[in-house]
Amino acid sequence: MAKQQVKQTGKYTENDNIKVKAPIVEALKNAYENPTYQFHIPGHTKGKAIFKDFRKLVGDKVLNIDTTDEFDNLGTLHPATGPIKEAQELAAQAFGAKRTFFLLNGSTAGNLAIAMALTKKGQKVIINRNCHRSALTGLMISGAEPIWVCPNQIENWSIWGNLDASKIEKLLQENPDTGLVWITNPTYEGVVSDIKSISTVCKKYGVPLVVDEAHGCLWNFSKHLPETALKLGADAVVHSLHKTGGSMSQSSMLHIAKDSILDDKAVEKALKLLHTTSPSLLLLASLDAARANLESKSGQAALERAVKNAKYLRTRLDNIPNLHQLKSDFGYMTDVTKVFIKVDGLSGKRLESILEIDFNIEVESASDIGVLILCNLGNSHSDFKYLADSLEKIASGGYKDIYYLEKRKHMPMLEPQIKMSLRDAFYAEKETIRKEEAVGRVSAEVIAECPPGISILLPGELITEEHLPYLNDYEVLEVVKENGAPEKI
Ligand SMILES: Cc1ncc(COP(=O)(O)O)c(C=O)c1O
Repeated sequence: MAKQQVKQTGKYTENDNIKVKAPIVEALKNAYENPTYQFHIPGHTKGKAIFKDFRKLVGDKVLNIDTTDEFDNLGTLHPATGPIKEAQELAAQAFGAKRTFFLLNGSTAGNLAIAMALTKKGQKVIINRNCHRSALTGLMISGAEPIWVCPNQIENWSIWGNLDASKIEKLLQENPDTGLVWITNPTYEGVVSDIKSISTVCKKYGVPLVVDEAHGCLWNFSKHLPETALKLGADAVVHSLHKTGGSMSQSSMLHIAKDSILDDKAVEKALKLLHTTSPSLLLLASLDAARANLESKSGQAALERAVKNAKYLRTRLDNIPNLHQLKSDFGYMTDVTKVFIKVDGLSGKRLESILEIDFNIEVESASDIGVLILCNLGNSHSDFKYLADSLEKIASGGYKDIYYLEKRKHMPMLEPQIKMSLRDAFYAEKETIRKEEAVGRVSAEVIAECPPGISILLPGELITEEHLPYLNDYEVLEVVKENGAPEKI
């Protein structure tokens, strides 16, 4: 098992007296306190012209500061100016990056920008099969050719696990013209790969490494969590701050590493094309606030508490018969804050619905095997106590699961059989046929259910008998029309 290194985190952790700066938050506060006569978008004009029930629900203040860039000295996102530029620079410092870009439309926007800026038609990209669908959407747009690398399988949990550096090295040897290695770490369920070894291999072959660390934005701020890829030699890293970092939904960051060999200006240009031209200052301020919070003494304390709570939960779960939790094992570590559990005799879906209906608990997600629990900054110790008590009751409570176990559909972790390029198949003439008739045909659609948005079938891949059990919910599938030439686009 890879050893966790002792880490340096949080610039401000030792000093109570330093006020952490948050320039967008400051600028918005200033705009709020010094209102102008407003003749610009958004047209609800500080919430005055908005559905009353909505205003009541969200509050006057939030609508008052709902604005976009350019106004009230708030700066601009493209190009980054004023408080927005300053906030991005502070984020870059906090994460140890050369440059940080704030993202609206989540890490999805970051992945699209990476593909658009750093890959091109026909170029080979080594990418893990369990990548998020946004990465492959990017490849469909750019026309780059994925060379799939399959992580190890953790079969008793029916999930993809860690990625071996040796597999990436083998692919780099076989494909010396590879333009980019692009991997996801951690997995949705919190399995962590040995990024140091992977980045060493990439450097040996002179190929840049991008790490989709969407679920690992807290790592930079706690010595109890794995090391961020930014400090392990990756060239670029994507973080969904909104997932676990405390910013508002949809807001993320893309970092370019200090000694990156990637073209950060190309990434910036792609983001300009991909982003809305009316960025929400609320979302941008929430990114600024999340970074400031994680650097602050109280944020550091919240993160310590989250880790402690996760350990408490895990200890409680260890003592529940019939309940199992995913832990670090041979070859891989796990992020302690992501707790993937299963209960004997219950599918994950059934466990999720018992938690929801009988205990009023909502978890991050459920697969056929288990449920994923996130130990977040905002959860209190009593939340975890209630959760552990509830799980104790469920595991010993005689709950039955006939319907769900029968309909259980395991995620097929198959090596894809590629018949056509991703982009050509996506743009080919298609037809919709009954699922039973689709075996032997070439898929024309992305089948990647959310969460976690990992692909089962992609355009250009052969549909086989082994896919069918997973496609219970599909009556028809979109396939490439036989002899259908790609449409000219
Ligand atoms: C690994 C990974 N990358 C990227 C994304 C997209 O993130 P966002 O929801 O921030 O767009 C997700 C979303 O679940 C993800 O799991």
